Amino acid sequence: MAIKIKDDIYWIGTIDWEIREFHGYGTPNGSTYNSYLIKDEKNVLIDCAKEYMFEELLIGLKSAKINPEDIDYIVINHSEKDHSGCLEKLIKYTNATIITNEKCKELLELQYNTDGWEYIIVDNNPEINIGKRTLKFIKTPMLHWPDNMVTYSIEDKILFSNDAFGQHVATSERFDYQVEELEVLYDDTKEYFANILLPYRMLVPGAIEALKNLDIEYICPSHGVIWKDHIKDIMEKYLEWSSDEYKNKAVIVYDSMYNSTKKIAYNIGNGLLKGGVEVRIYNTSKTPMNKIMKDILDAKYVLVGSPTLNSNIYHTVAMFLAYMEGLKPSGDKIGVAFGSYGWMEMATGIIKKTFEKLNFKIIEDECLTCRFVPKEEYLSKCYEFGKKLAQMD
Ligand SMILES: Cc1cc2nc3c(=O)[nH]c(=O)nc-3n(C[C@H](O)[C@H](O)[C@H](O)COP(=O)(O)O)c2cc1C
Ligand SMILES: [Fe+2]
Ligand SMILES: [Fe+2]
Repeated sequence: MAIKIKDDIYWIGTIDWEIREFHGYGTPNGSTYNSYLIKDEKNVLIDCAKEYMFEELLIGLKSAKINPEDIDYIVINHSEKDHSGCLEKLIKYTNATIITNEKCKELLELQYNTDGWEYIIVDNNPEINIGKRTLKFIKTPMLHWPDNMVTYSIEDKILFSNDAFGQHVATSERFDYQVEELEVLYDDTKEYFANILLPYRMLVPGAIEALKNLDIEYICPSHGVIWKDHIKDIMEKYLEWSSDEYKNKAVIVYDSMYNSTKKIAYNIGNGLLKGGVEVRIYNTSKTPMNKIMKDILDAKYVLVGSPTLNSNIYHTVAMFLAYMEGLKPSGDKIGVAFGSYGWMEMATGIIKKTFEKLNFKIIEDECLTCRFVPKEEYLSKCYEFGKKLAQMD
């Protein structure tokens, strides 16, 4: 259903209440694919949705009182299927020309049958007049893919930011000022940042600097709520999350078959707590990796534990390590590998390889690997190790 943002500008996004997994990202609260409609001499649709949301997108267009065939332009800020999946169907309904950049066109052609699609390429032509307004296109490569750009409506002071500033949540609230618990909104935005934009965070300060030159009244992202009252705050938070500054916080990530590795995890955790460190403990079988990454973003310590299973690391921990490695959290962290084993310890070496790739400072201790079940005396060494770790610079 269309929601008016300003005169002749509507949100006509689709709400995916039931999605629970988004390329490995657990989405217990669903997601949204925000499209926006600008009615002017040329009618413009900004970004689309996943393929299976097509019918709902048509309902949105209808409620904004526009026939699909009256859409002149479709701006594609990013070719990922969550924003372009409907295109093949939509292009058939409309005679629209796609406005995008050269890289995005290339990536669209690699994902769809684009025969007959017409384009306006904005690389050397970053402003297009559509009647009463002019749209400006600013490339933001790698935020999220090489093809990303944002669209700015100069007269309306609206930034259509695509993946930037988004959150994976399905809600009926469309604007930040409608959200009752602002901290939850920031937390969802942080989780999105930690799992989608983290590897490219070094590009964020430059992008924010470029955006600061624009007069922005609304930030309309392609997922989640529209920013209106907290634009400055969310930009500051983006700068904070991309700064690699950490808190005095430890994230302990583990799995365990018979609770031996779990006991080590909890005892080191108690030691860290005693030493004044904020502690989070996550079991990789029970917590989605994206929740864990949100906490790792600004943690000082990352402790990863696994039993040895069939001369290897436990599979859920391996999966987490592969995920974390790709997201490249700051190397300015302390890494601790631990685990229980029976006859030949194999898991911690694998964990440390990931820490090495990420440039974490690895701390070793004899209490970190234990044969079978750790006894009281052993566990008190883990506790003492946690206390000692808490004092580390
Ligand atoms: C199916 C299975 C395979 C195992 N394979 C190995 C192994 O290859 N090498 C080894 O040292 N220990 C092996 N173990 C022993 C476990 O590492 C040991 O029981 C450890 O204490 C389990 O820790 P957890 O309770 O945290 O899971 C295996 C245990 C199980 C149940
Ligand atoms: Fe994306
Ligand atoms: Fe997206």
